[in-house]
Amino acid sequence: MENIAIYPGTFDPITNGHVDLIRRATAIFPRVHVLVAADTKKTPMFSAEERCEMVKEAVKDLDRAVVEIFNGLLVEQVRRLSANIIIRGLRAVSDFEYESQMALMNKRLHPEVETFFMISTEEYAYVSSSFVKEIAGLGGEVGSMVPPGVARMLYSRYGSNPAGR
Ligand code: COA
Repeated sequence: MENIAIYPGTFDPITNGHVDLIRRATAIFPRVHVLVAADTKKTPMFSAEERCEMVKEAVKDLDRAVVEIFNGLLVEQVRRLSANIIIRGLRAVSDFEYESQMALMNKRLHPEVETFFMISTEEYAYVSSSFVKEIAGLGGEVGSMVPPGVARMLYSRYGSNPAGR
């Protein structure tokens, strides 16, 4: 049986930490569906279409990654794509509680699915979408934390450009 993995997230916006994880996952799995959540408990800064475009641009060199927007329950996407693995990143122990609850709930909704956790690369262990937005909003440099297209989007949204100071 071929393992088909999905990597879901809000990606508001995608960071280099996410890209690193997708890169590592595509080295293991023949296909990784990167699913951008349209409905989210968070109030995203970027629309689902903008978030999806930023993800597509960031992973365009990864042949095994397929990017799309999704609505509704994640397990329905698992079924639709005949996937058997959900990938999630773990940065610190603080991620564990939320992630373990989500993995157990997804398992309850779809017992055949397994959640695989990947520890984030040390360099990105403290990077989060919220921090990146906060820093860019205050005129700080985020070029080492996000893909170039994302940095451009953030600076244009906030009307700031640290490189041009
Ligand atoms: N590198 C850098 N940052 C990372 C990271 C990594 N490897 N992994 C996670 N993060 C950060 C993100 O930046 C984000 O930070 P923020 O909270 O500051 O914005 C946070 O961790 C989590 O974001 P993300 O990875 O995008 O996932 P999410 O938790 O927003 O995604 C869904 C949640 C979409 C997967 C989940 O809500 C879902 O499945 N929804 C569909 C509905 C459903 O099925 N619900 C039932 C679930 S049991």
